[in-house]
Order: sequence, then C-alpha cells, then structure tokens
Amino acid sequence: MSAAVDVEGTAAVVQLTLPSSSVADITQKLHDATEATPIALRHRCLFSMRNMATDIAFPVLAQTLDSEPRSQLLRHEVAYALGQMRSEKASAMLREVATNPNEHAMVRHEAAEALGAIADTSEETTQTLQALVKSPEAPRELRETAALAIRRMNKRKAEALTESANAAAPSPYLSVDPADPLDPSTSTETLEQTLLGGDDEGGISADANAEDVANDLERRYGAIFALRDRGSDDCARVLCRSLVGDVRNPSALLRHEVAYVLGQMENAEATDTLVACLSDDDEHVMVRHEAAEALGAVAASNSTCRDVARSALERFRSSAETTADAVDALIVRESCEVALDLLAREERGEFEYVYIPDTKRSVSGKRE
Ligand SMILES: [Fe+2]
Ligand SMILES: [Fe+2]
Repeated sequence: MSAAVDVEGTAAVVQLTLPSSSVADITQKLHDATEATPIALRHRCLFSMRNMATDIAFPVLAQTLDSEPRSQLLRHEVAYALGQMRSEKASAMLREVATNPNEHAMVRHEAAEALGAIADTSEETTQTLQALVKSPEAPRELRETAALAIRRMNKRKAEALTESANAAAPSPYLSVDPADPLDPSTSTETLEQTLLGGDDEGGISADANAEDVANDLERRYGAIFALRDRGSDDCARVLCRSLVGDVRNPSALLRHEVAYVLGQMENAEATDTLVACLSDDDEHVMVRHEAAEALGAVAASNSTCRDVARSALERFRSSAETTADAVDALIVRESCEVALDLLAREERGEFEYVYIPDTKRSVSGKRE
C-alpha cells in the first residue's frame, strides 16, 4: 500500500507517495503519548496524515481524537485537520465532540468549526449547531463558533443550489476559512472600522439575538480575512489592535482568529503583539495557543524578530505557571514547543514541516 500526500504550502501543492511502512511509522508516532515522542514530532506526524488520502488518514485521525489520553492540543488539531480535509465521514464524530460538555472547550470549538468547514447538508449537523447556539452550558466561544458555522453551511448550500458564480474564491493561504473575506475593493479604513468599531460586548446569550450576533461576527471575520489577504504592514497593525490593548475585541473567538491569521501573514510587525498575547495569563487559552504558534511562524520567516520570539516561547515552554487550570497550562507549553520546533527547523534550513520517515524530503507545510 502506498499513500499519496499533498502538502499545502503558501504557493504550491507537493505530492508524495509513501510506502506502507512510512504510514505505519507516522501512525505509531502520532499515537505515542509517552515521552519517547515529543509533542512537536507528533504534531508534524498529524500534518503528514492530514495530507494523505482520506481513506488512509481518517481512521488514524479518528483514533487520535477518540483515544489520545494526554494532549488536548493534539486533539483540537485533529478536529481542525478533519475539517480542512472536508470529509463528511468525520461529521458524526465531530458532532459528538462539539456537544460533549466534558470535552475541553478548545476541542469542542474546533469540532464545531470543522463542521462548518465540511458543510455537510445533513439535518443532524444543522440541528446540532443550532442547539449549541442556544445551549446555556456551552461557553460563549462555542456558541459563537456554532453561529458562524451555520452561516457558512447555509451559504455553501445556497451556492450549490444556484451554482453561484459568486462563490468565494479559495483563500490565498489555502485554508478553509470560517467566513468569506469582505469585498477586496473595501478600503483599509473601512475594514479597520468594521473590525474595531461598535460594541459587541454581549456575545450570544439567552437574551441576545443570535442572528444579530452572527451578523456582527461574520462581518468582523470578513474584515479579518480581507486585511490578511491585503497583507500590508498597516493591515497587520490593525489586526494587532484588535488582539491586545484598549480596543481589543471582547470575543475570544475573534481574537483567536486574529492571532491565527497573523501567523499566516508572517509579518514581523505582529511580533510584540503576539508576545504580549502569549504572556497574558488572563487571556483565553485558545488565543494564547494561536499566539504562540503564530509567533513561531512569524519568527521562522523574519530573522530580525527571532531573538524576541524565541525568548518568549522558551519562557512559556518551561513555565511552571501558569493558569489555574493544568490542562490549559499544558496547551500553552505544548504550543510553544511546536512553535520552537518550527523555528529550529527553519534555522537549520529544513523547510519541511510534515514528518516523512523514509525520504526525509524537503517540502513546505503550513498549518491552519
Ligand atoms: Fe479555531
Ligand atoms: Fe489551534
């Protein structure tokens, strides 16, 4: 048996064929929760799997999501990967994770977001997401994720019905984003106002109108992706202001997406903001996690900010800290380890991110 791998970088899709012994090696490392296999290597194995044919990758990833005993970081990344692979096979499992109150909030969020990315047309998925929007037990970021996912699904359904010529073009970063960018002709000032203006303190609560909140989030997400796609230093600075400081957005969901796109942009302007975000132990763990990984991506591409980024990542990798919650603290530490691994590989001139045991081929991989 061999497996086709397509590794998505920012510019090209590379296809590899792996022998079954390599697939077995990657699977073994991905599932090894002992200290013998560092989290950064397991993370790379996950991205190798994510780029294999679905019939090979799905059972392996499903087992990780189902049975991983230790790393919630890895489990949330599996949920993300299943969404990006857009396999409807994953929907039932993702529905279960998203609705289970015993699951970590970041994993539930990623499962709900993945359901939006897959955008299957089943009643079960629609009902699951609708119930989450209204659920009093679901944390705010999960209710907001579900509201956005419903939007995305409805849009995709409408496009399929009309075979719309206006269907959104794929993201230049090749990610399946939770909302479409606003019109590229929108001025940077208007995008800034859309992202930073107004007041959305309420979030989705029993007394807030879920439709209004979803509209507001969708617009702000659209501004985030339009700013990312424009990609200038000015745009990076606007995004940074929504992440930390006086006008930071009150939604942790929105802030996590901002941290994530700053990593995609790899703009050194974001370094100090990402360090501040990672260093804030009152910040939501999913935002700190995205800030850590974004910092790794920014520093990998910009040698000028490497010292600052490395010292912050090393501090929080070994911090005895941090939050009151041991699981959250582990997520932050592991995110820093993954980011430092990305940086170290870049410095050694190894451009591959995925783990390819037999060939050690050099290919570009890019997360989220
Ligand atoms: Fe997410
Ligand atoms: Fe993440």
